[in-house]
Amino acid sequence: MYKLMFMTENDFIPLNKEGYRDTGTVTWVAPSNIALVKYWGKRAHQIPANASLSFTLDSCVTTTSVAYEPLRARKDDFSFELHLDGMRRDDFKPKTHTFFSRIERYLPFLRDFHFTIHTSNTFPHSSGIASSASGMAALASCLMEMEQNQAPDMDAFFFRRKASFLARLGSGSACRSIQGELVEWGAHPDIEGSSDLYGIPYPYEVHPIFKNYQDTILLIDEGQKQVSSSVGHDLMQNHPFARQRFRSATENLGKLRQIFSKGDLQGFVEVVEQEALTLHAMMMTGKPDFILMKPNTLRVISEIRGYRERTGTMVCFTLDAGANVHLLFPEQDKEKVGLFILEKLVAFCEKGHYICDRLGSGARKAVIIA
Ligand code: DP6
Repeated sequence: MYKLMFMTENDFIPLNKEGYRDTGTVTWVAPSNIALVKYWGKRAHQIPANASLSFTLDSCVTTTSVAYEPLRARKDDFSFELHLDGMRRDDFKPKTHTFFSRIERYLPFLRDFHFTIHTSNTFPHSSGIASSASGMAALASCLMEMEQNQAPDMDAFFFRRKASFLARLGSGSACRSIQGELVEWGAHPDIEGSSDLYGIPYPYEVHPIFKNYQDTILLIDEGQKQVSSSVGHDLMQNHPFARQRFRSATENLGKLRQIFSKGDLQGFVEVVEQEALTLHAMMMTGKPDFILMKPNTLRVISEIRGYRERTGTMVCFTLDAGANVHLLFPEQDKEKVGLFILEKLVAFCEKGHYICDRLGSGARKAVIIA
């Protein structure tokens, strides 16, 4: 029944609070995602100021394994250690600690175990791709597997929904990394079943032109610090254009319904590029202000628009809170766009680096070959 229902926080509090005492390891792989309609601005408890929509990626992923061992006695604080690429990283602990304290109500066993968490990304740290979405989605999925071990009748639907709910409490955009291929997060008046609490697979018709849609990430400025999300979202508090921005995001998400069902690439390009530029406009007009595009970001944008006009190929760009450019295009144009990238765009990428990715299907349990 709950499949049709809007779920509330209380639906995620387990009824059976009996602790279990097993030892084991769970491992999940979760992808990053790229927002088409951006989440930028939030309220308390990770509630987004507007609804957003993203493409789930395929090869930019985080793999996380959590080894758990019961503690002799329940502790006052969480007991865990973190390793990134095999190196112990105590500097990453505060973010995980905050995450654990936000989700403890929904996973009461967290203080009963010592956790050893190993995590690694397929994309280099220096690529500027935020690992928080894929990282929190992978960690939330691991913890859900632990919960499922206690509640074997839990179905896949509830598993994914709660994983998304938990991931959101780690990093908002992470709730869009549990499933594929298009995920919507945030209550929207025209999207049935949409919620501020978790992401849902986009529930309306999507034209086959969007199948296997490609995302080539052009690394304009590797390693450059993006605006941290907390600073970024805070910027929208008292921002002079905040209300208009939240309204236009809601409208853009509404427009995508027709665009997706009709396969209207022209409309898609308009909405996606406007969203990217508005995100940066918000940063440029906030207090403090941030200019995150670099000269090469603008050169690449201008090349993309020129190529589109010359050839009629419906490539478009989107941006994160940084200088890198995501080039989006249909799979059918892969060959010619590949040439365009090599001939015109690689020269603007730092050390010629770029990452070819495409739409993917979401988090999955890792298969461990012994
Ligand atoms: C520009 O999800 O990183 O990528 O909830 O504070 O962790 P927190 O923010 P985060 O913000 C993502 C911002 C964005 C747009 C988007 O992904 O929608």
